Amino acid sequence: MTDFEGTATNGPRLVVISNRVADLRKTTQTGGLAVGLADAVKERGGVWFGWSGRKLKEPGQPKVDRIGKVMQISVALRPEDYAAYYIGYANSVLWPLFHYRLDLVDFRQPFHDGYRRVNEKFAETILPFLKPDDIIWVHDYHLIPLAAELRRRGCRQRIGFFLHIPFPPPDLLAAAPDHDWLVGCLFEYDLIGFQTEADLGNFRRYAKEQAGAMVGKDSSLEAAGHSFRAGAFPIGIDVDHFAEMASRASEEVAIDELRRKVLGRRQIIGVDRLDYSKGLPDRFKAFGRLLEQHPEIHKKVTLLQIAPSSRQEVQSYADIKEELAGLSGSINGRFADFNWTPIRYIQRNVPREKLAALFRASQVGFVTPLRDGMNLVAKEFVAAQDINDPGVLVLSQFAGAAEEMAEALIVNPYDIDDMAENLFRALQMPLKERQRRQKALIARIRKQDARAWLGSFLSALEGLRVTDAAA
Ligand code: G6P
Repeated sequence: MTDFEGTATNGPRLVVISNRVADLRKTTQTGGLAVGLADAVKERGGVWFGWSGRKLKEPGQPKVDRIGKVMQISVALRPEDYAAYYIGYANSVLWPLFHYRLDLVDFRQPFHDGYRRVNEKFAETILPFLKPDDIIWVHDYHLIPLAAELRRRGCRQRIGFFLHIPFPPPDLLAAAPDHDWLVGCLFEYDLIGFQTEADLGNFRRYAKEQAGAMVGKDSSLEAAGHSFRAGAFPIGIDVDHFAEMASRASEEVAIDELRRKVLGRRQIIGVDRLDYSKGLPDRFKAFGRLLEQHPEIHKKVTLLQIAPSSRQEVQSYADIKEELAGLSGSINGRFADFNWTPIRYIQRNVPREKLAALFRASQVGFVTPLRDGMNLVAKEFVAAQDINDPGVLVLSQFAGAAEEMAEALIVNPYDIDDMAENLFRALQMPLKERQRRQKALIARIRKQDARAWLGSFLSALEGLRVTDAAA
């Protein structure tokens, strides 16, 4: 039970801090942190603090909103802070670095300084709202130094951190000029959560090899005078809610589906933020290869790719957008007919209700990131399927979700032929096999859903004695 003020009566009050605060009244977010966290926080209640998404010369006082059981506190960023912290350090250094793309890292000292400055400001802003027995849960790569900044200001509450994106191997991370400082900041948390065992393994190796940490057999570590814990807590979705949205009739989607049925046409669907980590060009090429190798399925299949733009001020994002427009144009130019467009490429955000219906109306979910923390779209696709006639998930081996979703058709997103072959296999798969795979997948994502994720992380954090945590 939680009251309107966000004060949990079944445990300490939860204070969630993330760069992006989801609009809990809206439903257009695509995957990732906002969706996963919104599903989890709406239910438990508490405080959610972060950036309002606005850039203002004079950010003014934080804005406080009450939405259901959640008290949302948000602040605007100064344009120069947005440029250095969000566009600069977070998305031109940490994002490519943590997604194994050293070639795209653009390290500059002012980015590092802006990142520290905004983390200091976040700490100063939230401090007056904190109560002594709150538990604080910080999210994602934008806010790695936040615990250190809060501790410097006397905060003794338990503080956990969850990294939504991958954690790279030590050698790769060591390419960042300030890597010791960055990981040293992580050591100030009481509990650090990763999406997968692979990420956790990379972190433990870094801590041991580069920072001389004592790494216990259990989840405990000791480094730079701090004792803390680190574990894998794979994020999930609210499976029942998503399934329910998918089965609710959407007239538009139903008409489109009916049309395809009449034409005997199947749909492959991809939904991603437009990001180079999502492997979209190779995905389009794999679909092109499928058409090249199987003329018999021309007019019998379409690829629907939804990819709303993201972080367009970063050059590598503008580049990928252009590349994709070119690729979809050339594949359509080569194969299309007056009554068939092979790739339908939508660059707008689509409301989650409609997405859910589109997933259900598709025969293949095509999720092929080159590297991804988890990828909730993979879980949403499975949650949306009808067990009487389920679709098939084709999933990258480099998505965190692949650790839990072995019954998908697992592909190498760098191998165009492998993806094309698996698309063909998915399109031909007999009903019994589809049902067997779907049953196993849905059982697993239901077990590891949003509530289980929240519960397991918070009980691990709450389980740390305050004195341990504050020591
Ligand atoms: C990923 C990150 C999140 C981020 C989201 C959207 O899921 O892990 O932290 O909020 O992408 O990106 P944006 O830059 O628009 O917040």
